[in-house]
Amino acid sequence: MSNVEYAALAPEYVRRIARYVPGKPVEELAREYGLDPSTIVKLASNENPRGPSPKALDAIAAAAADLTRYPDGNGFALKAAIAAKFSVPMDSIVLGNGSNDVLELVTHAFLRPGDHAVYAQHAFAVYPLATQARGATGIEVAAKSFAHDLNAMRAAITPQTRVVFIANPNNPTGTWHRPDTVKAFIHALPRDVLVVLDEAYNEYLDPSDDAQAAQWIAEFPHLIVSRSFSKAYGLAALRVGYGVMDPSVADLLNRVRQPFNVNALAQAAAIAALADSDYVAESRRLNREGVAQLETGLRKLGATVLPTHGNFVLISVGDAARVYEALLRQGVIVRPVRNYGLPQWLRVTVGLPAENERFLAALTVALK
Ligand SMILES: Cc1ncc(COP(=O)(O)O)c(C=O)c1O
Repeated sequence: MSNVEYAALAPEYVRRIARYVPGKPVEELAREYGLDPSTIVKLASNENPRGPSPKALDAIAAAAADLTRYPDGNGFALKAAIAAKFSVPMDSIVLGNGSNDVLELVTHAFLRPGDHAVYAQHAFAVYPLATQARGATGIEVAAKSFAHDLNAMRAAITPQTRVVFIANPNNPTGTWHRPDTVKAFIHALPRDVLVVLDEAYNEYLDPSDDAQAAQWIAEFPHLIVSRSFSKAYGLAALRVGYGVMDPSVADLLNRVRQPFNVNALAQAAAIAALADSDYVAESRRLNREGVAQLETGLRKLGATVLPTHGNFVLISVGDAARVYEALLRQGVIVRPVRNYGLPQWLRVTVGLPAENERFLAALTVALK
């Protein structure tokens, strides 16, 4: 054992970081409570309960035949597929190890100590984490009816502001702003403030509500749109996402990213998943039904649930820590959101119909 105090060697802003707490893994709950893992229902990380498209699984199997070589560090084929699908230039795309990586790359490239990043109260937890990891200052703007208050966020911009994060839809609140409102917000920002429009749950929106914001980069050089393969595409384990932005901004993010940040299996799977729009449409349909199923069941229980635009619902249950524990004991994992300033709420991912039923039954017991 060394007598060096390593904590003292780290910058103070790193020591102050509160670790990200992920949803409890199935195996961990099985170990802790002596449960059979096959009986556990996990509705804690907004994954697609159908899993990935079979076409993505085939692509993974094919790509697994050659694990000796490094992946394509420029992700040519995946970028070409994204560029074609969304009508954006290839050099405007940055691939990430999950869209989380893209968020980190933005802070890495643009934030230094003293800079400000603006985000909303109850917004996705990675915004404050990635901001603090750079020694920059996070400015949290009070939410309005649980949603981002875009006017207040605009008012919070100062000459120190370099980055603004907007989650649309937001996790964990499920709130969403219409594209015209978001566009007006972006338009009103100074061009030296980068706005990250995080669309991790975009595929769950009704297609008529999807304004293809990635195409706005032609008009807005300060816009970065991030998207994920972890949610509707069902590829969370592979870690792949991307950002679309002005090529000059993409160039900077590419300088700070790891050379091989997206592995070969992830690239192959993402290309196949992107092409299988029927699978995404069916996932969206199933999600809509699942939301309705949960809302109906929760209403019967008298629980308050926020309207959602994602694949999860936020439910007010009173003593959420106790209810969370009572659900765990019944083999149902959901997500407490105390760390989001929502100590009375639980976030529940929409599962398959039987999983939703199982959750509702367990909640009925837990609320007693
Ligand atoms: C709003 C939002 N953005 C980004 C992410 C990151 O997803 P991933 O890194 O898996 O693409 C998540 C994951 O939960 C999220 O909820």
